[in-house]
Amino acid sequence: MMKDSSSTGSIPAAENTGLAAQAVNAIEGLSGVHPGYRRAHARGICCRAVFRPNGLAAAFTTAAHLQEQESAAVVRFSGSSTDPALADLLSPAKGMAVQFSLPDGGSTSLVGATVPVFFARTPESFVDIVRTAHKAQEGNLGPLELMKEITTHFSESKESFLSLNKLKPPASYAELQYYCIHAYFFVDTEGRKRPVKFEWKPEAGVRSLSLADARQQPDRYLEDELELRLKDEPVIFQLDVIFGEDGDPTDDPTKAWPDDRRRIEIGRLCLTEVITEPEELLMDPGAVTEGIELSDDPILHFRRTAYGESFHRRRKEQ
Ligand code: HEM
Repeated sequence: MMKDSSSTGSIPAAENTGLAAQAVNAIEGLSGVHPGYRRAHARGICCRAVFRPNGLAAAFTTAAHLQEQESAAVVRFSGSSTDPALADLLSPAKGMAVQFSLPDGGSTSLVGATVPVFFARTPESFVDIVRTAHKAQEGNLGPLELMKEITTHFSESKESFLSLNKLKPPASYAELQYYCIHAYFFVDTEGRKRPVKFEWKPEAGVRSLSLADARQQPDRYLEDELELRLKDEPVIFQLDVIFGEDGDPTDDPTKAWPDDRRRIEIGRLCLTEVITEPEELLMDPGAVTEGIELSDDPILHFRRTAYGESFHRRRKEQ
C-alpha cells in the first residue's frame, strides 16, 4: 500500500513519465512557468486541522484515520489557476486538499474541487484539451467560445463545463462544497470491497457573492477572509461518503453517480489556524492507505505521476 505522499522518497516511479511531462508542459503553456509554484492550483493557503471520525466508516473500511481516533491534518485551499497572481474571482473552480497524518507515521490525502466531475476521461484527452485551450487562447477566444470549441471536439467535457458555468463567486473557502470526484474502494475487515466517493460539506453552509459584490473584493479576498474567520472561530467540514451501486462507473471522472445513492457522514474536520505551507507538501490523491484502494479510473492513477512531475519541477526552483 502507498502511504506517505509528503516526502520526495514516496513519489512514485512514473510508469507514464513521458505523458506526465507532456501534461505538465501543456499546463505550463497556459500561463507560462511561475518558478517555485504548483503547475496547477498555483496559489493557495494552508491550515492546521484535526479530523474526528464518528466511527460509522469502521463497518466498511479498515483505514486507520476513519475509525474512532482523531488525526492531525493539513488543509490547502486553492484557486484552480496556473497563474499564482490571478485574482481569486477570476479562477472559477476552487480546491480543497487534505493530508491526514496516520498513526504509523505515514499520510494519506483527499483532493477535492468545487465541481462534481472532471473535464477529461483519460490522461491523453487531458493533454489534448489543455493544448486546444492554449491554441484557442492564442486565437483570443473568450471563455464561452473556448468552452464551445472544446465541447465540440471533446463531448466528455460537457458535464464538467455545465458545472463550471453554474459556479458563482464564493463568499469564503469555508462556505463551499468540495467533491473528491474519483471513485475509490473501501475494503472492510473481511476483504469486501465497496465503491465510494467522498465529499466535504461546510458546516457554515454554502454561500456565494453577487458578481457586483465580488468585483469589489481585493484580489486575494478568499485568503484574507479565511485568516480573519479563523481568528474568531474554527471552520468545520463534514466528510460524507457516497456508496456506488451496480452499474455506477468507477473508471470515469466525467460522469456523476445518481443523486439518490446512499450517503453517510463519517467524520468532521476542524480547521483551527492558518499556517505557513509545510515543506515538501504534496497532496497526492493516489496516496491511499490500507482499507482504501484506488479505482480503475485512469485519471486518478495518472494524477500521481503528473503531481510528482510538478512537485519535482517546483522543488528544484525553490
Ligand atoms: C489529468 C488530470 C489532472 C492533472 C494532469 C492535474 C494536474 C495538477 C498539477 C500538476 C497540480 C500541482 C501538483 C503539485 O505541484 O503539487 C495539481 C494540483 C491540484 N489539482 Fe489537479 N490535475 C488533474 C486532475 C484534477 C482533478 C480531477 C481535480 C479535482 C478534484 C484536481 C484538483 C487539484 C487540486 C485541488 C490541486 C491543488 C492541490 C494542493 O493544494 O496541493 N485536479 N493538479
